[in-house]
Amino acid sequence: SKVTFHHDGGLAEVVEAEPGISLMRAAVHNGVRGIIGECGGQAMCATCHVYVREPHLDALPGMSEDEDEMLDCTVAPRDDRRSRLGCQIALGGDLDEIEVDVPAGQV
Ligand code: FES
Repeated sequence: SKVTFHHDGGLAEVVEAEPGISLMRAAVHNGVRGIIGECGGQAMCATCHVYVREPHLDALPGMSEDEDEMLDCTVAPRDDRRSRLGCQIALGGDLDEIEVDVPAGQV
């Protein structure tokens, strides 16, 4: 799966990820700036917060209650439509390609 991480200022990092891993893991494995994943993917830290770009919103998995609650604790403001936890987005399947904006801060 191809994942594009857009940063403030227009820089983007593109990574190739194995299907089945989460967007957070893909970021951490590739040293993508601004995605921390402190809790290891348990939807308990919100340091993997991303804003998913419009064309990919429909392909996202549904949101659990835990994720929904944790998204109220992000450092950067929550966007009702585009905010998701990267650790709860499994790549592959319908999500062969995704583009996200990385918040300016996670902690
Ligand atoms: Fe902690 Fe996603 S890694 S909430």
